[in-house]
Amino acid sequence: MVDSDMLIPRPRRAVPGTGAFEITPSTRIAADAASESVRLYLQQTLRASTGQPVRDAVDGATVHAGAISLRVSDDPSLPAGPPSPEGERAESFRLTVTTDGVDVVGGSAAGVFYGVQALLQLLPADVYRSGRVGTGPWSLPATVVEDAPAFAWRGVMLDVARHFRTKHEVMRVVDQLAAHRINRLHFHLTEDQGWRIEIRKYPRLTEVGSWRRESQVGAHVPDADGVLHPAAFDGRPHGGYYTQDDIREIVAYAADRFVTVVPEIETPGHVRAALAAYPSLGVHPETPVEVWTEWGIADDVLNADDSTVDFFKDVLDEVIALFPSRYIGIGGDECPKVQWVEDPRTQERMRSLGLEDEEQLQAWIIGQLAAHVASHGRRAFGWDEILEGGTLDPSATIVSWRGLTGARTAAKRGHDVISSPDDQAYLDYRQSDLATEPIPVSIVLTVDDVFAFDPVPSGLTESERAHVIGGQGNMWTEHVDTARKLDYQLFPRVAALAEALWSADVTGPRDVAEFRGRLAEHTARLEAMGIEYRHEAGPFPWEQRPGVPGRPHSREDRAAYIDAITANIAE
Ligand code: ACM
Repeated sequence: MVDSDMLIPRPRRAVPGTGAFEITPSTRIAADAASESVRLYLQQTLRASTGQPVRDAVDGATVHAGAISLRVSDDPSLPAGPPSPEGERAESFRLTVTTDGVDVVGGSAAGVFYGVQALLQLLPADVYRSGRVGTGPWSLPATVVEDAPAFAWRGVMLDVARHFRTKHEVMRVVDQLAAHRINRLHFHLTEDQGWRIEIRKYPRLTEVGSWRRESQVGAHVPDADGVLHPAAFDGRPHGGYYTQDDIREIVAYAADRFVTVVPEIETPGHVRAALAAYPSLGVHPETPVEVWTEWGIADDVLNADDSTVDFFKDVLDEVIALFPSRYIGIGGDECPKVQWVEDPRTQERMRSLGLEDEEQLQAWIIGQLAAHVASHGRRAFGWDEILEGGTLDPSATIVSWRGLTGARTAAKRGHDVISSPDDQAYLDYRQSDLATEPIPVSIVLTVDDVFAFDPVPSGLTESERAHVIGGQGNMWTEHVDTARKLDYQLFPRVAALAEALWSADVTGPRDVAEFRGRLAEHTARLEAMGIEYRHEAGPFPWEQRPGVPGRPHSREDRAAYIDAITANIAE
């Protein structure tokens, strides 16, 4: 039995009662029609770990007592969360535990699901195991917990393009996210280094684009004069992709856990895998490229032919049919302009389109694809570079990654924004300044730093602020080549992310010491889930990568770089 002041994220209200409710062989479960999938989830979870049958309360004409009750209600006394198309109480819940039973009321099935997550946290951590270990008692303390999230978009981006993760590994991540009330999985499916989704119309995207000959190991290392010395390569092919049925399976699995999978197809840069498969998409079709084996930003980008735009519209048509998400990612980040500048055919194309510079060409390609997404009744979303060139349709949604400059500008221009500033929410970044940190990337971003993450930039009016619909952590995987390493990068920082996006400052000022007390309790849950989270003392020997260089930066250098590259979108 765990006290309600040990919940992660911290609830708006938790009032302890007297006594406890015990899950025993006679405990029944009842759910209204709207909460049916949550009933199945809770039954499966409790049956696996407690061994109790947790039978349905309704058995023919008989309704048994001693029930856990799950139901949706439009009860106006549920706490209000953020505005959202589903309603501001859609994710709100009230969990009431008395000695006689458990009542979970949600503003929608999502709210019921989050009430169930609170319920599970009140039980011994063994409830997160997949088989019977603990012998109980499976007691819940009497309590009333009322809660609602601060932000509607609570996300994690997973890059499965640099290093493929199997569908089971992805669904395991979905389980981990759902347990932390993260409700968006931004699925980064295409890159220079791999194309991971079957597109029926263009089979070479996966036949050719889903594997690479070998991979760079660690970073290129600059010498004292700044000259880069090539990294080592592993000499091993790496590959994998999801069939359309795999995608449907992941989407449905996530939906049952109230996680929306938001797909992303990169354009017009980060497309080497597509160019390897279909060279005619590129600026130099006469010079074939292979799926990139290096990390970094490749100069190879899309050409601006109508046929190339049409190709990606076809790709998006299949993507839109697979993913019910309101948002469809079209990429947009880090598109080098050098090929466009040097190519006479591209320059002629720009003149015929009436475009003055390469930023406008990038905006034109993005604009074509965004309009196509909108024509399906969906919203394009892309990295903050899509604000460049200045002609973006207001319905496009921005992921601000280069600090919060893009978030501020987007909100002022009337775009919805998801904040994922690299200095607050990049989960590939190193977790300490220990020399043993595996392949250390960029600045130090600790659990405490993520706990302090605030997606809302300063200097916005109330109506501009309303455009900031949430935040997400980004998990890039250049140096994350196994599911174990993924665990290490994600946890416990995702617990801090959940706290920053669900509780934020709604439950009072953030108190990192108090959070760390709850996190200490939470590690027992992570262990029961089998998550190999990073331990506070640093990486275990098997988590280290001695001799493999990373790319560490100081905060000052990184901030100066980000300021320089966002100057053209600062307002
Ligand atoms: C990014 O980190 N290139 C979005």
